[in-house]
Amino acid sequence: MRKRLSDISEGLSTPQITVLDAGGQYCHLIARKIRDLGVYADVQPSETPASQLAGRKGIIISGGPDSVYEAGSPQIDPKILSTSSAVLGICYGQQLMTHMLGGRVRKGEKGEYGFARFQTGRPHALFASLNGQLQVWMNHRDQVELAPEGFDVLGGTFTCPVAAIAHRTRPLMAVQFHPEVAHTQQGHQILANFVFGVCGCTKDWDPKDRIGPLEKQIQAIAADRNVFFFVSGGVDSTVAYTLCLRALGPERVFGIYVDTGLMREGETAYVRRLFQQLGATAFRVEEAETEFLKALEGVTDPEEKRHIIGEQFIVVQERILSTGHFLDGHWILGQGTIYPDTIESGGSAKADVIKTHHNRVAGIQKLIESGRIIEPLASFYKDEVREIGGELDIPGEFLHRHPFPGPGLAIRCLCSETVAPVTRSDPGWLLPIRSVGVKGDSRSYHSVLALEGLPEDEVATELVNRMLDINRVVGLVHARAGIAELRSSRGTLTRERLERLRQADAIVRQLSEESGFDREVWQFPVVLIPIGAGSNPDSVVLRPIHSVDGMTAQVVRMPHELLHRMTYELLSVNGVCGVFYDLTHKPPGTIEWE
Ligand code: XMP
Repeated sequence: MRKRLSDISEGLSTPQITVLDAGGQYCHLIARKIRDLGVYADVQPSETPASQLAGRKGIIISGGPDSVYEAGSPQIDPKILSTSSAVLGICYGQQLMTHMLGGRVRKGEKGEYGFARFQTGRPHALFASLNGQLQVWMNHRDQVELAPEGFDVLGGTFTCPVAAIAHRTRPLMAVQFHPEVAHTQQGHQILANFVFGVCGCTKDWDPKDRIGPLEKQIQAIAADRNVFFFVSGGVDSTVAYTLCLRALGPERVFGIYVDTGLMREGETAYVRRLFQQLGATAFRVEEAETEFLKALEGVTDPEEKRHIIGEQFIVVQERILSTGHFLDGHWILGQGTIYPDTIESGGSAKADVIKTHHNRVAGIQKLIESGRIIEPLASFYKDEVREIGGELDIPGEFLHRHPFPGPGLAIRCLCSETVAPVTRSDPGWLLPIRSVGVKGDSRSYHSVLALEGLPEDEVATELVNRMLDINRVVGLVHARAGIAELRSSRGTLTRERLERLRQADAIVRQLSEESGFDREVWQFPVVLIPIGAGSNPDSVVLRPIHSVDGMTAQVVRMPHELLHRMTYELLSVNGVCGVFYDLTHKPPGTIEWE
C-alpha cells in the first residue's frame, strides 16, 4: 500500500506534551510556546481518550470560550486525571478540572479580561523561582469558587481569589490566568516549570533537525511518482516545494503559479526569479488574467468576489490538472499546509465564518481522498516553517515578507454601484461605501466614518463603539477637493482601477521599505476606494497594522515626514483624489476591507 499524508509525521517521537483543545486559538499558542522551549508538543481534541495519550509526560487542558455548566461544552476523559501524566489546566481547563473533581465553579455575570496582579501563596514546583506578585493576563467569565477536595490554593488576584490550584499528592494543577500569552510576564517561566520541573521533559525538538527525516519521508511517500505544486509565492508553499526539490531533484518536482492579474506590481517576475534561484527547472506560470477579470466583470459585493475568485481558481486548476495529466498515477500533489490548518478544533470548527477563504478544488479533494498528496509541513507552525526555510537557504527577505491574501488586490479594490455624496455625521462624514468588519464573533458590513485630520486611536475606537451604523473610522490626510465635495462613483474591478491600485501599492511599498517602516508593521494593505471628485474618482486608504497572527490587529502610526512624502506621491497617480489613514483596530475592523 502506498503511504498516506499522515505518514509524513512518521519518525517523530511521541509528543512529550499534548495540549487538549477546549476551544479556539489558545491551544495552538500553548503548543507553540512549549515547542519554543525545545519540547515536542501536539494538539488533540479535548475528548481524546486517555488510552491514546499513554506515554505523555504532561497534558495541558487549554482555555476556551465555554462555561462548564453549558450543555455541549468541551469535556475530557476523566481517566486523564488519574494516570501518571501530570495535568495542567489553563483558564477553562482549571474550571473543568475543578468541576470534574467535585469543586465549585461560580457562573460569572460578565467577563473579566486584561491585566491582573497575581499574589503567590503556598510554594509549588509550578511557581519555582517565582515569588510575590506577578503580572498576569486574565480572560474569563466563570471562576473557581471552591477548589476540589485534596487541592491547595496556590495564589489569587483581587477579583479571582482562586487563581491557581494544585493537588497535594497527585500531579494535577491549574491556573485561571493565561501563561501562554506575552502579557503574563513570567508565563514563559511558569510553562518551563511545568514542562521541565513537574513533567521532567527533556529537550527533543528543533525544527531544523527535522529536515533530513522529512526528505527521507518525502522520498518514501512519493516512491516512483513525481510531485506537482500549485505555488502561490507565499512562504508555506515555497518551503514545502523546496523540501521536495531537495528530496527528489528538480526533474521530479513541478511548480505552477497561476497569474490571476490580481497580483501586486512585479510579483510574477519576483516569483519566477525566486524559483529559478531555488533551482527549480520545472516551473511554469499560467497566465489567467483575462479569464479572472472577465469572471469578475461588474461584480461589487465582497463575498461574491471571493466566491468567483475561488471558483475561477478551481476552473484553472482543474484545467491544468487534466491537460497536464497530473491526475494519472504518476503524479501526487504537494501542498504547503501547516499545522494549524490541519486541526478541526472544537473552537475553530464552531467559529463563525467572517470571510470565505477559498482552498479546496474537487480534483484536489479526490487526490486527498485517494492519499495522493504530500504535505511536508503539516506538523509545523509558521515560525518553524521560516526556520526550516532559512536552513534551506531560501532568502530571509522572502521568508519575512508580509502576508498577502490569496484573492489578491481584488479584495483591496472596493467597488460601488451607486453615485452618492458624503453625508455629514458629527464629528465627521459618512462615506457612501461599506467595508467588512467583525463585531463579536460575526461579520459586519457597514459604512465608514471619515474625519478631517488624524485624531488619536482612542477617539476612533470610541466612535466605532458609539455609532452603530459604522465599523471603521478613517482620517483624511489630504485630498484634491474639500471633504464635503467627495462622492462615490460606480467603480468595479476594471484593468484601469486595478492598475491604479497597483501603482499606489508600489509607491507605498517602495517608500516603506526605503524608510524601514515596513519592518515596524506586520502587514500594510493599501486599499482603493471609489470615493473622489471630478476627474479623480478614487482615493487610497493606508492600513499599516501590527499583529501576531492576524486574529487581532492594532493600528500603527507612521512618522509624519514619511506620511507626507507618501501622500504627495500617491496624489500624483492618475485618478487618485485623496489619501486616508485607517484608524480602526481589529476588532471591530478587519485587516482587509473586504
Ligand atoms: P482579516 O481581513 O480577516 O484578515 O482581518 C486576517 C488576515 O488574513 C488575510 N486574509 C486572507 N488570506 N486568503 C488568504 O490567504 C483570503 O481570502 C484572505 N482574507 C484575508 C489578511 O491579509 C490578514 O493577514
